[in-house]
Amino acid sequence: MTDSNTTFSISVASGKGGVGKTNLALNLGFALHELGQTLVLLDADLGLANLDVLLGLSPDKNIQDLLGDTSAESVVVPLAKDGFVFLPSASGVAELVELDEDVQSLLLGKLDALFRQYDYLILDLGAGISPTVLSFAAMPQERIVVITPEPTSLTDSYALIKVLCTQHQIRNFQIIVNMAESEKEAKNAFTRLAQACEHFLNLPVNFLGMVHRDPMVTESVRHQVPLLKFAPNCQAARDIREIARKISERRNRLKDLIARSPILKSSV
Ligand SMILES: Nc1ncnc2c1ncn2[C@@H]1O[C@H](COP(=O)(O)OP(=O)(O)O)[C@@H](O)[C@H]1O
Ligand SMILES: [Mg+2]
Repeated sequence: MTDSNTTFSISVASGKGGVGKTNLALNLGFALHELGQTLVLLDADLGLANLDVLLGLSPDKNIQDLLGDTSAESVVVPLAKDGFVFLPSASGVAELVELDEDVQSLLLGKLDALFRQYDYLILDLGAGISPTVLSFAAMPQERIVVITPEPTSLTDSYALIKVLCTQHQIRNFQIIVNMAESEKEAKNAFTRLAQACEHFLNLPVNFLGMVHRDPMVTESVRHQVPLLKFAPNCQAARDIREIARKISERRNRLKDLIARSPILKSSV
């Protein structure tokens, strides 16, 4: 299944915290895996690394161990039988981005070799527009911005898109509206954001999908079991599968255009 050199890297970002990024990153992972795809999920929320909490895991190694002799394969945690792994983060990891160039390129080299073995790399990001978040958001080939219908979510996500667009020359954004009561509410929220992006940034953004507000999400978090395992047929799980199907179609369509490295700008 794994097609080396065509790893599709996607970051999951948002302007505001608590909009559902971590749950989406994790469950989109399970949904893509159900479709027969292989993937690595990277916890890149350096401040509040909580993917391990949602998984009920306490990994003994994390990305920081890659600075030593440890191989990437021994740091990743398998989440499913074939080809779905998790690469844990650590709170000290913020300093990794400030490492000197030699150490940084050693780390990136190890990560790159790992990521290339999978169809997808999904990065779960922290909220906001700190330099670390911005560099993680700009690195992958594709960006998902998660919003909710709340006005503050719209203004904060617009701020995030604006910096990525004006300071990092990023122009491809996929929007997921989470915690919507209805399709209509989701479309309205998307339209308001899309109009602002179009009007002020001359930037078209794409509607990737919506996830209903569903009490099963909170229940699954409480049980520390991923939603797609906890309540596989609930509304939010079905919505997430629908989005995964679109992502998978998109990867197939873009396959030939995808840069050879999922994270390095100029690699051979
Ligand atoms: N679709 C949804 N329906 C209901 N509650 C949700 C939904 N998505 C997320 N939540 C709630 O929001 C909380 C925060 O989600 P999380 O994924 O940790 O957000 P973030 O990573 O953006 O901070 C979850 O613990 C859950 O209770
Ligand atoms: Mg999170």
